[in-house]
Amino acid sequence: MAAQRIDKILSATGRYSRREAAALVKAGAVTVDGVCCRDAARKIDPDKQALAVRGEPVGWKEHVYLMLHKPLGVLSATRDRDQKTVLDLLPPEYRARGVFPVGRLDKDTSGLLLLTDDGDFSHRLTSPKHRVDKVYLAQTDGTPDEAAVQAFADGLTLRDGTHCLPATLEILGENQVRVTVQEGQYHQVRRMLAACGTPVRELMRLREGGLELDSSLKPGAWRELTEREMREFF
Ligand code: URA
Repeated sequence: MAAQRIDKILSATGRYSRREAAALVKAGAVTVDGVCCRDAARKIDPDKQALAVRGEPVGWKEHVYLMLHKPLGVLSATRDRDQKTVLDLLPPEYRARGVFPVGRLDKDTSGLLLLTDDGDFSHRLTSPKHRVDKVYLAQTDGTPDEAAVQAFADGLTLRDGTHCLPATLEILGENQVRVTVQEGQYHQVRRMLAACGTPVRELMRLREGGLELDSSLKPGAWRELTEREMREFF
């Protein structure tokens, strides 16, 4: 990766502000390849050069990629004056890094929510152009019929005239369906199912592309994506 200023690299870890990082360097607490460096503006390549603070290697990553089991009742936003957001569920260093949710889940939807500070990653998952499958499990009032399955496959037109891309509706049992869409329009799955006469009672996202919600994550819990998940994605 391109060389970057030492104070910028240190603040990108989320552990220090830019000012604190510069102060640490000035105080002689920072080494590059084992040699003390007092120039916060010096540019280094953290993939090739060993940066340490008081002897502790700086675990630097260009970007972070997190998987959260979003609980009900929390907003998919970075901040809100009155309500709890998904950023409030993470340690503060992620907010400092500029981590944001990839797309949105409604306040009343639970399940897989990815968060990152990588705009390209977010765009690849959310842009309808990339046709990434988003898979939802829904409990409905009533069970959709075969006509609804066909309407989803054809591409539904919602009551307000919004056109939806073709989607997959699978009937799993009484009042329970799996829906796969490739876009993320406002309240899309709820509105699609309501348009077929079977409004949603509960909605949970299970998968985005090849990334599946880790079943060991309880609502509100999160983890970084594994190297394997990242390799499969990129
Ligand atoms: N569709 C919805 O209606 N709500 C969500 O949160 C996600 C998809």
